Amino acid sequence: MPPQLTLFDLATGGIVARMLQQVVRLEIPDRLDRTSLTAAELAQQTGVRSDELHRMLRACVSAGVFRLDAAGRFSNNYLSRALRTGAVGSFRDPVDYFTSPEVDEVWGSLPGTLLTGEGGYEQRFGCSVWDWYAANPGAETRFARAMMSMSALDARGIGASTPFRRLKRLGDVGGGAGLVLSEILRQHPKLEGVLFDAEGVLEVARELLAARGVAGRVDLQAGSFFERVPTGCDGLFLKNILHDWDDEAVLKILGNCRAGLPLGGTLLLVEMLHDTNTANRVASLSDVHMMMATTRGRERSSEELRLLLERQGFALKKVHPLPGFQSLLEAVAVPPQGQA
Ligand SMILES: C[S@@+](CC[C@H](N)C(=O)[O-])C[C@H]1O[C@@H](n2cnc3c(N)ncnc32)[C@H](O)[C@@H]1O
Repeated sequence: MPPQLTLFDLATGGIVARMLQQVVRLEIPDRLDRTSLTAAELAQQTGVRSDELHRMLRACVSAGVFRLDAAGRFSNNYLSRALRTGAVGSFRDPVDYFTSPEVDEVWGSLPGTLLTGEGGYEQRFGCSVWDWYAANPGAETRFARAMMSMSALDARGIGASTPFRRLKRLGDVGGGAGLVLSEILRQHPKLEGVLFDAEGVLEVARELLAARGVAGRVDLQAGSFFERVPTGCDGLFLKNILHDWDDEAVLKILGNCRAGLPLGGTLLLVEMLHDTNTANRVASLSDVHMMMATTRGRERSSEELRLLLERQGFALKKVHPLPGFQSLLEAVAVPPQGQA
């Protein structure tokens, strides 16, 4: 393939993303479930113009999303099926999040980030992403739903990991809507859980935990992990939390986790491990998204995490690879450095 064609593809990625945003907002994959329709028929259902819709969907076909037959009828293919609302493994909500106005705004700050290291929320809105979400509940829910969809891809593999078998009460710190915790609890029927996050996020969690049949085994606690974490747990679980923060904040969170756990307690981290000098399509893009959309967050290597853990009284015991792109790091609470 000539380099210009690959570069054309890369440079127009943002255009494709905008079309996918309209595809999910107009619920086109849902409308094409088990049927094929022309753009005119879809336009009638959605209230948009037929010619423009046909051209947009044809361009989506050129990017590999949907099928188009010679009679002008669109149907789902394996990519567009994964954009249906509520389908198992649906990527609808992550598309809605990654193409949202706030993510657009924040990525517009890339030149400033390259110059100063300051993330996009601080530059555009003058506050951290989490303070911005607290003031924008619609966007907070959109993010929580996107996280939940992405976490759904990992949940089963995480739940099946061995360290949960030994635990009695697990605190999911920054657990979001609770999907992963609910899967862990379903796979370990004697385990009790504490879901700890911002109040707005726990609103989404209540419904989900009830629907997953584990609400009676979960204590919901609103709070900030910069002040405290749940107590009375023999295990704490943090999935994709540390990558949101710089080393100083990570040390604060880990320090609170250590204060909340007994000696010998278990700390479980799920992170997308990333070495400094190795490029990886998913981890490297996730890393730059952390650079833009968090307060100096980043993806780290297991060695970087091991050193941070050690400074706050944890010994890294084992790294369990998970199906997909993430790893589970198992650490144990040890006496603080100098007191062993
Ligand atoms: C990247 S999401 C991960 C959610 C969940 N662990 C998962 O993997 O699906 C980060 C979570 O941290 C929560 N969070 C951010 N700042 C927090 C704080 N200071 N205290 C508690 N939770 C916080 C957010 O509300 C969000 O749910």
